[in-house]
Amino acid sequence: MSGAAGPGSAHEAAERSWIASRGRALSGDLSVPGDKSVSHRAVMFAALADGRSRIDGFLEGEDTRATAAIFSAMGVCIEAPSPSCRIVHGVGIDGLRAPADVLDCGNSGTAMRLLAGLLAGQRFDCVLAGDASLSKRPMLRVMAPLREMGATIDSDDGERPPLRISGGRPLRGIAFDSPVASAQVKSAVLLAGLYAQGETAVREPRPTRDYTERMLAAFGWPVEFAPGEARLSGGHRLQARDIEVPGDFSSAAFFIVAATLVPGSSLRLRSVGVDPRRTGLLEALRMMGADIRETGRRDGVCGPVADIEVRHAPLHGIDLPEALVADMIDEFPVFAVAAACAKGCTRVTGAGELRVKESDRIHAMASGLAALGARVEETADGMLLEGGRLGGGRVDSLGDHRIAMAFAVAAQQAEGEVGIDDVANVATSFPGFEALAQAAGFGLRQA
Ligand code: S3P
Repeated sequence: MSGAAGPGSAHEAAERSWIASRGRALSGDLSVPGDKSVSHRAVMFAALADGRSRIDGFLEGEDTRATAAIFSAMGVCIEAPSPSCRIVHGVGIDGLRAPADVLDCGNSGTAMRLLAGLLAGQRFDCVLAGDASLSKRPMLRVMAPLREMGATIDSDDGERPPLRISGGRPLRGIAFDSPVASAQVKSAVLLAGLYAQGETAVREPRPTRDYTERMLAAFGWPVEFAPGEARLSGGHRLQARDIEVPGDFSSAAFFIVAATLVPGSSLRLRSVGVDPRRTGLLEALRMMGADIRETGRRDGVCGPVADIEVRHAPLHGIDLPEALVADMIDEFPVFAVAAACAKGCTRVTGAGELRVKESDRIHAMASGLAALGARVEETADGMLLEGGRLGGGRVDSLGDHRIAMAFAVAAQQAEGEVGIDDVANVATSFPGFEALAQAAGFGLRQA
């Protein structure tokens, strides 16, 4: 078995670059692709449910396709009758079969960490591997609590992928006080808890997205949860159901910041998930002076869904409240761009988690913005930014999708062309970004 090939390695071979520059004022009525976190979980729970589930709005990204491929490799029949739709024929909570090969999570930390929990409770052995970026990311944060539950889970260097999981180990529920505010860690423990004797409870230092809890409940598993805590017991079953995946707020974020920055812009983003555990960026931008409205609010399977209307507004710098960090954990690259274009100083603290994302996002943004002439100081757990004018230059996304898209946004306000290297990874979360951005008014082309 080898862990190298798969969804993660295709784009590594085919590095691509963009040239981005000022376009026109942004306008239009856009729909961004489906939510990544919800798409991963929809496939996982539909696969383990009794019966047939239909998923609409499924994200056709490399990350979520990797998760679907992993369940296919464990004997789940998943049909794709049309783009963004999956029909999943669930095999039941104990119905997964041993895979013939390494399970390739590509670039996806969510896939690897959630699956580590889920697979710790199976009867068979398996190996979870990933691409070069995922292979550097910390896994001890899930390995430690899973071992406490009785799992056997190893890695060559003790904490990084690939992960080897031995099956047939009886699991017991634990009360876990998570040292990190991480929905992936919480979810890994809860998913192992589906297979454990007794109750599994998780408490978090700050509340994170509760999509695992909400979706388990929607599939009929008894689970109690409140912000920052969740508990469930093993021994139940999941019932198939249809799922409508909302637009991904983290993808919408690039357009929200771009329309805020570019004079004359007025943009509407349709049907975006606006759960408060995801929309810290809206609060931060409003504190800075942004003009953003949510309309047509309705309930979705993982919290409220709304249309988001954004108009250009001048921004001023802020001291970002640490309480917002977990609620905008994926939005820091584009938030840093907003801060770099605002009037005055912005200070970010308490955001050390950014150093262990798809890249070290503090370093990637600080060095990229500095290359465009911004005054920025990197700190251990954040950064200090003095807003001002950005110039042209060349930046490296370090193979991180959100860094690449954040610099495409920065270029819409820069005074020269911005070359952005290593952008193929945008396909992990936002297939079609280039075309949608061009249609909205971005100056953006392949180098
Ligand atoms: C996710 C949780 C967050 C987030 C990631 C998706 C999830 O990661 O950054 O993009 O779907 O649970 P952490 O749990 O590491 O903060």
